[in-house]
Amino acid sequence: MASVKEHYDSLLASCYSWMCGGSDLKLKENRAFFRDHGIRPALSAAAVDLGSGAGFQTIPLAEAGFEVTAIDVSSELLAQLKQTAGKLPIRTVQADLLNFTEYSPEKIELIVCMGDTLTHLKVLADVKELIHRVYGALAQGGLLILGFRDMTVELTQLDRFIPVRSDSKRIFTCFLEYEKNHVKVHDIVYEKTDDQWKMKNSYFRKLRISSQWVREHLSKAGFQVEEVDTANGMITIFARKVKQDA
Ligand SMILES: C[S@@+](CC[C@H](N)C(=O)[O-])C[C@H]1O[C@@H](n2cnc3c(N)ncnc32)[C@H](O)[C@@H]1O
Repeated sequence: MASVKEHYDSLLASCYSWMCGGSDLKLKENRAFFRDHGIRPALSAAAVDLGSGAGFQTIPLAEAGFEVTAIDVSSELLAQLKQTAGKLPIRTVQADLLNFTEYSPEKIELIVCMGDTLTHLKVLADVKELIHRVYGALAQGGLLILGFRDMTVELTQLDRFIPVRSDSKRIFTCFLEYEKNHVKVHDIVYEKTDDQWKMKNSYFRKLRISSQWVREHLSKAGFQVEEVDTANGMITIFARKVKQDA
């Protein structure tokens, strides 16, 4: 089985933006998401994007006035982010997001871990540890936004074959195998060059994380959960480190 980094290096990074429907679309969606939720700098303006990928959240946040530290293991996706971002105030760091405090400023106002990055962590204990580290790193009044796929309900039989995207040059299919705490995600990509279709494939494990489990651990860590949304199989949670005197 490939590690997350190997999976992105060998297969996913080169077609990630295309697979998501294109960078323009994802940037537009995230600009609207942050605008609709009133996410704008009000404290230190320091923000950290955990698992930033190609910058679908980093770039809208920088455009909104945040100084963003974008952390990801994929050098290819960070290079794409830098190219799209131009002169926006963004610092990219190639590192494991669990170690984000080593690369972050003090008094962080906003930490986001969105677009299903959370399920890429190896075990639930890592998610718990991350929640605690985020709580410690946020300024009083700071906000954490988590966005991850709900894979608690098991797909069966042919429903486990997901046609992700296709066009005249590329076909991306995903096949899922369910385990107790993980889903084995097999990504299969056919690419056409000179009338020949070539297949690339790789698989890795994603965590099955329930909304309730995350909310419980956020509360235990000291967070106040302000909002929980579920749409199109994605769970979004807003959790605040409440000011001591509030
Ligand atoms: C599904 S993508 C989401 C990217 C971006 N947030 C978005 O919405 O498009 C997951 C990203 O997390 C990164 N990633 C996964 N595990 C990581 C880890 N432990 N440390 C740093 N980056 C990680 C991957 O390289 C990938 O770019």
